[in-house]
Amino acid sequence: MCGIVGYIGYRDAYPIIIEGLKRLEYRGYDSAGVALYDGNDLKVTKTKGKVADLVDKCEREISTSGNVGIGHTRWATHGVPNDVNSHPHVSNSGDLVIIHNGIIENYDALKQELISRGYTFKSDTDTEVLINLIEDVKKQENVKLGKAVQIALNQVIGAYAIAVFDKNKPEEIVVARLGSPLTIGIGENEDEFFIASDASPFIEYTKNAVYLEDEEMAIVRFHKGIKVRKIKDDSMVDTYVQKLQINLEQIEKGGYDHFMLKEIHEQPKAIQDTYRGRLLREQAIIKMSGVEDNMKRFLNAKRFIIVACGTSWHAGLVAEYIFEDLARIPVEVEYASEFRYRNPVISEDDVVIAISQSGETADTLAAIKLAKSKGAFVFGVCNVVGSSIARETDAGAYTHAGPEIGVASTKAFTTQITVLTLMALRLARAKGTISSSDYRQHLLELEMIPSKVERALLSDPLIEEIAYKYKDSRNCLYLGRGYNFPVALEGALKLKEISYIHAEGYPAAEMKHGPIALIDENMPIIVIATKKGHYEKVVSNIQEIKSRKGRIIGIVTEGDVQVKELADHVIEVPESSESLSPLITTIPLQLLSYHIAVLLGKNVDQPRNLAKSVTVE
Ligand code: F6R
Repeated sequence: MCGIVGYIGYRDAYPIIIEGLKRLEYRGYDSAGVALYDGNDLKVTKTKGKVADLVDKCEREISTSGNVGIGHTRWATHGVPNDVNSHPHVSNSGDLVIIHNGIIENYDALKQELISRGYTFKSDTDTEVLINLIEDVKKQENVKLGKAVQIALNQVIGAYAIAVFDKNKPEEIVVARLGSPLTIGIGENEDEFFIASDASPFIEYTKNAVYLEDEEMAIVRFHKGIKVRKIKDDSMVDTYVQKLQINLEQIEKGGYDHFMLKEIHEQPKAIQDTYRGRLLREQAIIKMSGVEDNMKRFLNAKRFIIVACGTSWHAGLVAEYIFEDLARIPVEVEYASEFRYRNPVISEDDVVIAISQSGETADTLAAIKLAKSKGAFVFGVCNVVGSSIARETDAGAYTHAGPEIGVASTKAFTTQITVLTLMALRLARAKGTISSSDYRQHLLELEMIPSKVERALLSDPLIEEIAYKYKDSRNCLYLGRGYNFPVALEGALKLKEISYIHAEGYPAAEMKHGPIALIDENMPIIVIATKKGHYEKVVSNIQEIKSRKGRIIGIVTEGDVQVKELADHVIEVPESSESLSPLITTIPLQLLSYHIAVLLGKNVDQPRNLAKSVTVE
């Protein structure tokens, strides 16, 4: 994980780096640091804590001038979060400085070798090993920095996005990537360059960016442009300059207290943006080029295998119901982290669908590579345009949710389900497993979802009151059936990750096979009991909870009477078809966890130990 930022140009580097680190803090936030060349010397400041702590320290300790610099916000892998382990790291001579996102797996062997040659280490990090390795190569081989980086990286096993510079040659920064993202923003007359894990740190300065591919490095030279090369053989690579679509507004809070709340409220528009241009209701057409261009592969598939992690895995579980129900295609949903190490049976007839908001999740990426190596066709459902997964897959569909900055995923989940629903409907139509009238009805209902989500959001004040009553609970159970079973899992995950309350999601009927033992008068149980689906069965489950004095919070269809009589609280949501109901029932669960976390004083957007983009396995 970790976020990296760099600048070389005619402006002051410090404010650009600090603002950039704040925008990348979602990638890790246990320590931060900055290195600046002030015209005379290298100034490095780093600290345990957040970027705000770094700013305090910088303004007390160093001059913040200089037109060249690099900065880092860390999610610890090797070495506890403390000042010494924070990046940037400086080489033994004091000349070279580095920031790094990733893991050097063979760092210990390299470290021993360097120690035997007289190198010393202050930190426990793999990154300090890498910068000294680069220094060693530079001296031994008598080569320039770019060449030394290339030779050193060929000795390294692991993943990295790095930026390195030499205080004796501060007109260039050398960057490289393998398995961790790295983008270079190009200023108007090529007179300034920005380096970052994603484009958010520099979107107000330039819309032109080069995304490095895996195993590529670049030498970024003030006034002279960038040269991209292959790390393996040093061959030149033609650069492709991409036009960025995001703007500053999208990555700011826009009046909300937290990004998470903003992103919850953005869902009506995000869902609409996802189907805009793809769902042409009047013509009864779904247009998705990634599906259309590969229709044969989809229709000939013996099964779909969905690989993902976390919330994206929950979207995959919802998709399992949709694909099987509508398109009659057998689906398996796999944790990418298990799939990649399980020697799974994959054939050329399989279609693998990889779901990922960030498009950078290491386990999902590895699962894709494995599936491709066995000849499967891999389709990606990603949010971040140009991300590693978007590029690694054979074809795909973007969710178009806009940047998701809150670490707890919200609009990514609902937009992933929207894309997967469109795919299922398109394939069902092509296979003839859905009648024309059902198909049209689904399109109509899908178009009504944004306004229904708006209505579901109106329960916010009631949900805040309920949150107040249950904020001190130690445990919580979430129950749902059918399409809403994955929603129960997602509700529990949301509560766990931002409020640190233990929560479990279960299929409602499974409760009596174990979790029922937990129920007493202190246990809140959130039950998704909307009208379509297995309503009567869920009502029976609610009765079972009631007889054991559990506290019931029902998510019910507007106008519900039966559950209202049994439950302690009900939160009403608009009626919808069962297959689309997860897009609506998930809203009150997101709001409930949000309010509980706020009432408990937790850091909603940056929960402890987590990071938005999990680029380590
Ligand atoms: C939960 C959450 C994580 C991610 C998971 C996968 O709120 O954010 O569980 O869903 O790390 O990330 P992506 O979708 O980026 O592959």
